[in-house]
Order: sequence, then structure tokens, then C-alpha cells
Amino acid sequence: MSQVEEILQVRVQSITFEAEGILSYELRPVAPRRELPAFSPGAHVDLHLSNGLIRSYSLFNSQEQGGCYRVAVNLDANSRGGSRFMHSSVGAGDILTIGLPRNNFPLYEEAEHTVLIAGGIGITPLFAMLKRLEALGRRWTLYYSTRSRKNTAFIKELEAVNAQSSHGRVVFHFDQESAGGFLNFSDIVASQAASTHFYCCGPLPMLEAFEAATADLPDDCVHVEYFAAKESADTSGGFTVELARSGKSFYVPAGKTILDVLIEGGQQPLYSCQEGICGTCEVAVLEGEPDHRDLVLSAKQQREGHSMMICCSGCRGERLVLDL
Ligand code: FES
Repeated sequence: MSQVEEILQVRVQSITFEAEGILSYELRPVAPRRELPAFSPGAHVDLHLSNGLIRSYSLFNSQEQGGCYRVAVNLDANSRGGSRFMHSSVGAGDILTIGLPRNNFPLYEEAEHTVLIAGGIGITPLFAMLKRLEALGRRWTLYYSTRSRKNTAFIKELEAVNAQSSHGRVVFHFDQESAGGFLNFSDIVASQAASTHFYCCGPLPMLEAFEAATADLPDDCVHVEYFAAKESADTSGGFTVELARSGKSFYVPAGKTILDVLIEGGQQPLYSCQEGICGTCEVAVLEGEPDHRDLVLSAKQQREGHSMMICCSGCRGERLVLDL
């Protein structure tokens, strides 16, 4: 069994300092006159780094700002190698291998009003959404929380939007200027019309506070994107995975994920983050009940159990049959 991931080569056209610790990268096709595949706001691409890591980054430009993909990378003090490599080892002119854009965080374009809430580097997918809402003439508000002005990516562009837009406004929140106080999500949610759609991307405590504040809203109106896992992978094991296409079976013991076992067994499943947040390893489930641990599928999709992320999810029974 082998899944084939569509990849393409891009050149790092330029690197820009966006804020303290944040660099952005403009990626263009290597081959002249080749066009990059289209994408929608909220999409991300996987960067296959030459140190062997694969990392997902949201595209922050709009499709209309054509011909390139733009990603921003925050140098994470707890980097597991991705952001450190991007900051220290990737230069203008380098060729990178990337996956095609995927979107687990799509924008509902028909909402009467859209509230975007960003924490730190979580601004990237929301910046792309803001541009789209502006282009459509839809009403929006962006709440953007950072430690201080100097840590705030895209601040000049966003201030320019504030000066010009008649559709929306950016509300900046600098933690260091607010006596350590954070955005009050309950107040933000309570002050909006019932039909408002809410989007949040940022660090885990922010996302948890956001989910608590929006718990009573309809699922369809609440959209969240995580960039770190909320819980550890299910490695309780004790079940068998059957691959319907090849007819092969693998026993998943305690201490391993399905992905671990398939790779060790010589299979080539697609994967990227290994944390249940990017969606690359999603596989259709033909039989059996997954024990979901991902942050990609909605609660409804997890209940339906038609697919699962094999990097982190397990099995509630003794057997799973996967469309692999
Ligand atoms: S590899 Fe990213 S969700 Fe499984």
C-alpha cells in the first residue's frame, strides 16, 4: 500500500521580518509560467523541510494576491525543530518541497457578521479571512491579542485596514498594556447578533476560553483551529487494523499509534503533524469504531465515524477496517 501525496517545488522568493520572532516567507513556483494551485482562506500547506520534518503553516495572503503562497513562522521557544529550522536554515532563493493547500478551517462567506479572534501567530489564517471578507464587502471584527506591539505581525497592514475599511475593524489587545488581562470572550460573544459566525486561532488557553464562551452557540457558527494538540495520542493499543485495499492486517500493541505500526510494517501512509491537527493522515473507516483524539473533525463527524486521523486516534473495539 502506498498513498501518493501531491507535492510541488517552490522557491523562497523573499523573507520578511513581520514582528519580533516572526518571519514571513513568500513562495513562488520554480518553473516559469507555472501557476500554484488555488486555495481558500483558512488553508494551510505542509512544508517538507530538508531536516526530515514536515510542518503545516497557514497561508495568510489571499488568492487574489496571486501567484504566490505566503506563510509566517513564529520562532517557538519550545521548537521541536520546525520553526528553528525555518528561521535559521531557510534562505531567500532556496527550493522547498510543499504539499498542496488543504483547508480544515474554511470561511463561511454568507454570514451577516463574522468575528475573528487571533492570538499571536494564530493571526495567519484569520488575516486571509479578513481580506476575503473585505473583498466581499461583508461585516467583520478582528480581535487580535499579542504580548505587545513589537510582537504583533502585520500591524501596519492592519492599521491601514482600520483607516480605510467601512466593513470592519481590528481591535488590538496587547497583554502587557492590559495589566496581564486577556480578552473577555464572554463579553465579545454576548455583544454579537445570534447569526454571527466566530473563528478563533491561537494558543491552547485562548482556544479553551473561546470554546467555553461559545459552548451554547450552534456548532455551525463556531470555528476553531488548533496548532498544538490538546491531548496525547491514543496509544492504548490492543486492536487489529485491516487494510481493505491490500488485505494486510496489523496488530496495534500498547504504546504505539496506528501510524507507528503501519510505518514499521513497511506501509507508506501520509502524515505530517502527528498531533491530530493538520488532517494529512485522515483515512476512511469502513468497519469498526474509532476512538477520536484529533482536532480536525467536528464533533458530528467524529460521532459519524466515517473517517479518522491515524496519527493519534485509536479504536473502541478490537478491529478497524481502513480504506487503505
Ligand atoms: S498527521 Fe496531522 S492529523 Fe495526523
